[in-house]
Amino acid sequence: MSVLYLPLSGISRLTINNLLLLRAAVAAPSGMDVRPWHIVVLTDKSQYETAFAGNFNMEKFLQSGAVVVFCADTTVTRPPRENPDAPAVTSPNPIWRDDMGAVTENFLLAVEAYGLGAVWTACYPFHDRMDPIAHYLNLPGNIVPYSIVPVGYPAGDNQPKDKWDPTRIHFGKW
Ligand SMILES: Cc1cc2nc3c(=O)[nH]c(=O)nc-3n(C[C@H](O)[C@H](O)[C@H](O)COP(=O)(O)O)c2cc1C
Repeated sequence: MSVLYLPLSGISRLTINNLLLLRAAVAAPSGMDVRPWHIVVLTDKSQYETAFAGNFNMEKFLQSGAVVVFCADTTVTRPPRENPDAPAVTSPNPIWRDDMGAVTENFLLAVEAYGLGAVWTACYPFHDRMDPIAHYLNLPGNIVPYSIVPVGYPAGDNQPKDKWDPTRIHFGKW
């Protein structure tokens, strides 16, 4: 459930760690268990105009207590499959996007469970959103900013939408 935030809500780096939100996030499954995520937590609002320049979600970032940027290592480094004893090689990871969706959604579920609120905002594959934050964080070329998630205290009593649609469920065949 996407929610808005109380302005000026403060969630410190310590709080995020204490609430185990990020630990819950990184419990996500990942293809071949490569865990491609790197997570950057931003709380200094004076930097947001630079870090998120031009991002139309800016108001949500400014209202939140913290902004969590989920980044992906798009490569995987390990011995070749056919020769596990050989030295590690680095190759593209074709399914990093799936892993990043899982870690982002895990985080949202943990946020909700703790009575906080968050919104998944898209970053990848939109270069106008990716480029400012990648530049601000000085990300290496193989690290892609995937999603940007502001977290805060819920501003209202938002209820989950009822998305159940039986026509989307197919038994046996389409
Ligand atoms: C991949 C993805 C990208 C999204 N990007 C944005 C975004 O940039 N800004 C925003 O306000 N919400 C964004 N959302 C939130 C959706 O708009 C929201 O989940 C949807 O409207 C359903 O509402 P609910 O989450 O309250 O059930 C995104 C959600 C997903 C899964």
